[in-house]
Amino acid sequence: MASSPTSAPAVLKLDAGQTGPVINRNVYGHFAEHLGRCIYEGVWVGSDSPIPNTRGIRNDVIAALKQLDIPVLRWPGGCFADEYHWKDGIGPRESRPAMINTHWGNVVENNHFGTHEFMDLVGQLGCDAYICGNVGSGTVQEMMEWVEYMTSDAISPMANLRRANGRDEPWVVRYFGVGNESWGCGGNMTPEYYSDQYRRYNTFVKNYRPTHPIQRYACGANGSDYNWTEVLMKKAAPLMHGLSLHYYTLPNDSWQNKGSATEFGEDLWITTLRKTLFMEELITKHGAIMDQHDPAKRVGMIIDEWGTWYNVEPGTNPGFLYQQSTLRDAIVAGLNFHIFHAHADRVTMTNIAQTINVLQAMVLTDGPRMLLTPTYHVFEMFKVHQGATVIPVTLTTPDYAFGQEKIPAVSASASRNAAGRVHLSLVNTNPHHAITVQCALTGISADKVSGRVLTAPAMNTHNTFDHPEAIKPADFTGAKLDGGQLTVELPAKSVVILKL
Ligand code: AHR
Repeated sequence: MASSPTSAPAVLKLDAGQTGPVINRNVYGHFAEHLGRCIYEGVWVGSDSPIPNTRGIRNDVIAALKQLDIPVLRWPGGCFADEYHWKDGIGPRESRPAMINTHWGNVVENNHFGTHEFMDLVGQLGCDAYICGNVGSGTVQEMMEWVEYMTSDAISPMANLRRANGRDEPWVVRYFGVGNESWGCGGNMTPEYYSDQYRRYNTFVKNYRPTHPIQRYACGANGSDYNWTEVLMKKAAPLMHGLSLHYYTLPNDSWQNKGSATEFGEDLWITTLRKTLFMEELITKHGAIMDQHDPAKRVGMIIDEWGTWYNVEPGTNPGFLYQQSTLRDAIVAGLNFHIFHAHADRVTMTNIAQTINVLQAMVLTDGPRMLLTPTYHVFEMFKVHQGATVIPVTLTTPDYAFGQEKIPAVSASASRNAAGRVHLSLVNTNPHHAITVQCALTGISADKVSGRVLTAPAMNTHNTFDHPEAIKPADFTGAKLDGGQLTVELPAKSVVILKL
């Protein structure tokens, strides 16, 4: 790998005497929509499929995703949520009515994957359910009945219907979103109108079992629409547990030509990373508005859609949002997680868009074949940060510049887990040069350091079905401890996780 150290090292101070907030496990959450091949093929193949499955859910994908310790999964959309009518997705599959998925390719949705199948999926993954309800084209009654159907243990019409469909026990739904992108595909509402709708719909998202209360999340802003946050917080903050935020990283500024996932030069490498770092400004500014209305930070910022969004892979259905994932996406994931950790006092959940076969996916499938993306590997490497306590870091880093663009070369985040282990993750955005990171450790008595690194020969290295291990983590030997001083030779264009 052609990379040599630049002259300027990065200097990092890690003071374990200062403790930050806990990184909510849900920051490593996921999102799976009825979109393209995410649910159908990616998750659901049906019990008659030759692809090995458990009650219709494919085993290879579950086994891969279980390695990520996914804490929470958002479903059924996305834009799909606001045209989804849950009663079409229960009962015998062969008699469920079909519908047109108008947002995503106008394909026929046969409703074979519905509430029971989703709850089976979260059960197999061992994660919590985050359901997104239909405000855009659904009624208050429909939403109320769905919550009753899923969570009531009473002798009631909806709980009895659930029993008739083969499920006696209520499920646990910990998180419920009241609409999705209500400013756009979810109904083109103004913030004033949506806050009133939120207040109304939310009233009927009942806690049928007080022992299992549901956290209610309001639809939040599109990127830098700060007025949306202001209005929502002013009109409805006491009635919500969380307010969402959506932000996607596009290399180009045009939705018509977002840029290729795999064919890009250094100009779009640095632009993509610079645009990713905009997440910091978004959280800071939305967070400042939230602070004014909620200084105690009771309301979580729920970044329930984030990730890269490119042109679809050539020859694939434009409505399916199928894209490859390269080393660039791994760097994007690492940078985003560091930003989320730095705001762990407010950011209590995020959901990558999306888990399988759509946008910045963990897993891609091709019929019976499956591969793990570089993004998957970052989620797996960083899972040690889940539920750990932030150790604040002070970082002085050289810049990485190309053309007119300039971004910090190094990004870092540290945490201490319940067992007292310290983990330090590092990202080098510079595609050419390794960087020495000199790290002073205070309050950490480490006598051993080990780690793993994710890097590859080219910026666009990615896994294919013919070469599924072109990029994967390797043991990292570039970290040395000398008393309270840790020195890391951080390879060019890499993501590293260290255990102290
Ligand atoms: O993740 C794809 C789409 O992006 C979602 O359906 C929608 O909420 C957003 O615009």
